[in-house]
Amino acid sequence: MTRHDTVRAAAFITFEGIDGAGKSTHLATLAERLRSQGREVVVTREPGGTPLAEVLRGCLLHTPMDTLTEVLLMFAARRDHLRQVIEPALAAGQVVLCDRFTDATFAYQGYGRGFDLGVLRALENWVQATDAGVRQPDLTLWFDVPPAVAAARLARVRSPDKFELEPQAFFERAAAGYAQRAAEAPQRFVRIDADVAVEEVWRQVEAACRVRGWLS
Ligand code: TMP
Repeated sequence: MTRHDTVRAAAFITFEGIDGAGKSTHLATLAERLRSQGREVVVTREPGGTPLAEVLRGCLLHTPMDTLTEVLLMFAARRDHLRQVIEPALAAGQVVLCDRFTDATFAYQGYGRGFDLGVLRALENWVQATDAGVRQPDLTLWFDVPPAVAAARLARVRSPDKFELEPQAFFERAAAGYAQRAAEAPQRFVRIDADVAVEEVWRQVEAACRVRGWLS
């Protein structure tokens, strides 16, 4: 493989959806499938993915704070994650599978908590800036599930975090936020109907990656 081919093969794929949408299982399956086809894959998550960002994750998921503080810590974690993990992996031609990214900030802090979307856009442009423009995922798999179905799944979580304890109305607003983000970036987003059998959900994930030539 030439240097050019390696660089071209890089892909940044994010997994999004409200808590209880069931995305994490499919992220692991996709990583396994890509590796079995010879791809180098980095599996990571937000908030988190670096030692510093994992410390911030602990605070974000368990400590009450005002929404501006929450937003700034999410973006601080993201900046470190981009610089330490995501950008180097993409530069090396690897596939990055990331469990949540900036769409989650829009859905949860923006739509869920009512935080100013203009400020989020400014932070997105600032934190994700690269020499080649603002870094965005190449593909965002949005696991769309009715908030009532997700709530029933969350009710079975043994020690819920701060977000998982939010009422269903919060997740309804967050789900509407994802729909809005998807409408604003239709090339990047693929809606996955996550309210069907797990095998059927996987077939949709597989199809989205096949169309882009990332899976054979
Ligand atoms: P998860 O790893 O179980 O998905 O938990 C991360 C939680 O953090 C989840 O409830 C969504 C929330 N979150 C935000 O509120 N804003 C963000 O920007 C990100 C990345 C996650």
